[in-house]
Amino acid sequence: MQVDRRPLLDRLAVFPRLGLATLPTPLEPMKRLTAHLGGPRLWVKREDATGLGFGGNKLRKLDYVLHEAISRGADTIVSGGVVQSNSQRQVAAVAARLGLACHLAVYHGRLEPPTPEYKTSGNAFLNRLFGAHLHDVPWTGDRNAAIRALVDDLKGKGSKPYFVPYGVSNALGAVAYATTIAEIEPQAARLGFRPAAIVHCTGSAGTQAGLVVGAAVAMPDTRIVGIDIDAEPARVRADVVAFAKEASDLLDVPFDEASVEVVAGHAGPAYGVPHEATIEAIRLAGRLEALPLDPVYSGKGLAGLIALIRQGRWRKDEDVVFLYTGGAPALFAYQSALGI
Ligand SMILES: Cc1ncc(COP(=O)(O)O)c(C=O)c1O
Repeated sequence: MQVDRRPLLDRLAVFPRLGLATLPTPLEPMKRLTAHLGGPRLWVKREDATGLGFGGNKLRKLDYVLHEAISRGADTIVSGGVVQSNSQRQVAAVAARLGLACHLAVYHGRLEPPTPEYKTSGNAFLNRLFGAHLHDVPWTGDRNAAIRALVDDLKGKGSKPYFVPYGVSNALGAVAYATTIAEIEPQAARLGFRPAAIVHCTGSAGTQAGLVVGAAVAMPDTRIVGIDIDAEPARVRADVVAFAKEASDLLDVPFDEASVEVVAGHAGPAYGVPHEATIEAIRLAGRLEALPLDPVYSGKGLAGLIALIRQGRWRKDEDVVFLYTGGAPALFAYQSALGI
């Protein structure tokens, strides 16, 4: 059998994107955090800097996923998430920019509101600012059922809705995330290093699936390490495997389940509830690197990375990239719970 040696960029080029995200995002050294922790050399890939509506990792996925919506003639984008979901804030931002209606199923009850400002500030405020129509629904554990029900309802009323899954995680979203690897590989080479690992927080799984599939082609020596922030590591890993399989079929690359590593134990007491290690990570990133990490995702992701460093996972002369996936608006909704 002939081995398919097409580079990652050629494989990605056949998937059209809208060009709404500001790419490539920067790859920067974190010298002060590295010194504080005593190595390995730490770098940050600034996925918070994707631009529109305060940025974040979902814009990279939406760039591809919503191209399909436009080509199908959709006039309405439908998605959903918890009250402080960064995903739905980015969906709302993109819909505003494209001039499409946006309807969001807002799940209540996945967590108790941790602060008085939780329901009105941060992402909840931005959703309203960006003009989204918000539909309050109870959390049942099924992440997509209420979004699908909203799609059916809007169809019945004569709209042309397009379904965007929870977290914008599906096969195309994972393909989109492989583009991050196509950026990191040459950026790191220009900076003179090859990362031993890329570490990030993982939840609805599309980000990690894309990174794993991209790395299999373009950075085979780099380990992708997902830090579970959902407090459901087995479910997260199963979802990463499922999306990665689908994305690897679309990109025509081999996929090895052993490349999927989801680290448990850093989600705190529950999804959306920050604990001491989260707050320590947020403080360190703020004071040493001026990075505003969030208490639900990136703060827990960095807490997991710090714990792995303290356990001696990497040598001092190795390089590790922290993928900062955004989420800073949620800081304002948690302000009184952080004691900062
Ligand atoms: C800031 C932030 N980081 C990371 C993630 C997790 O990415 P994924 O859902 O693709 O696993 C999310 C998802 O909502 C997020 O909002």
